[in-house]
Parts: sequence; structure tokens; C-alpha cells
Amino acid sequence: MPIQIIRNDITKMECDAIVNAANISLLGGGGVDGAIHKAAGKGLLFECMKLGGCKVGQAKITGGHRLLCKYVIHTVGPKWKGGQKGEKELLESCYRESLKLAADNNCESVAFPLISSGVYGYPKDQALKVAVDTITEFLSDHEMLVYMVIFDKMEGQES
Ligand code: AR6
Repeated sequence: MPIQIIRNDITKMECDAIVNAANISLLGGGGVDGAIHKAAGKGLLFECMKLGGCKVGQAKITGGHRLLCKYVIHTVGPKWKGGQKGEKELLESCYRESLKLAADNNCESVAFPLISSGVYGYPKDQALKVAVDTITEFLSDHEMLVYMVIFDKMEGQES
């Protein structure tokens, strides 16, 4: 099955690339971003400092440093503002742009967190549907194994 939904800590994933739910500075933060930077070590931050940030819905790639993956793809999800401010389109773009970068770098396996569904407040059930739909569409004409890594319980919207 080319898309697998699993429960794990994304920093423990052994695959070609993991995706980071970053912010526009690309200089680290809390949530999955903080966990990835902590596990990867300072080298990741130094590489990110050269990237000049990233726009919402776009993605940039770095090495994996001390992580088990070759690459980290940093994407910036939209902040949830009620659903009428283009959040869905921007979130779709995060998945599409990250998958394009993965394909351009010959990645055969990629792991995503549930982008925007933590600090940025996107409802988790809707965020998962956007993720699965966008990844499924991409996989209709690409060969890749994609993991959706869920970290906490889906029923709560609070975390
Ligand atoms: N592995 C997998 N998923 C995780 C992990 C982990 N180790 N840790 C948290 N999650 P968030 P966002 C889940 O807040 O909403 C940062 O400060 C978490 O349960 O990390 O896109 C950035 O710098 C949630 O479902 O990212 C930005 O400022 C999902 O990852 C801002 O947060 C995303 O939650 C981005 O907010």
C-alpha cells in the first residue's frame, strides 16, 4: 500500500525524507519542528539559516543531519482562521510541494506529520482528509511509499 497511516514519533522514522511542519522563519519552534531540530542537532539549524525562510504552502529541503533520514523537507502550513481564508488550498499545496521536492530528490519513502493540526489549529479530522486526498492524487502518477505519522489521539482538537 503506497500510503500508510501509522502512530509514531516522526524523528524515529527510517525513510528517505521526513517532512517538518515549520514556520516561515525555518529557524525552529515547538511541536514537531522542535522535536526534529532537537533530534537532528545544530547542523540542521545552520543549514536552515541559509534558506531565507519559506512561504506558507511552499517547501524547502535540507539534509537529515543526525536523523535516520537522508533529507528533511520543511513546509509551512496555514494557520486555521475558520476555514474560509484559503486554508485548505494552502494545506494541499504543502503536501504537493513537499512530495514534488521528494520526487526531485529521488526519495522512495517519505513521512509526513499532520501539518497545521497542532499549534496552527487546523481541525485534525479535516487536516487528515486533506493529507490523504492530496497524497493519493500525487501517488496516482508517482512511485513512492508515503507514511502519515500521527503522534497523538485524533479525537481531541485541543493538542
Ligand atoms: N512526531 C510526529 N508528529 C508530531 C510530533 C512528533 N515528534 N510532535 C508533534 N506532532 P505542530 P503546526 C504532531 O504544532 O500545527 C511549531 O512551533 C502534533 O500532534 O508541530 O503545523 C512551528 O515552528 C500535530 O498533530 O505544527 C510553527 O510555528 C502535528 O504534529 C508551528 O508549530 C502538527 O503540530 C506549526 O504548527
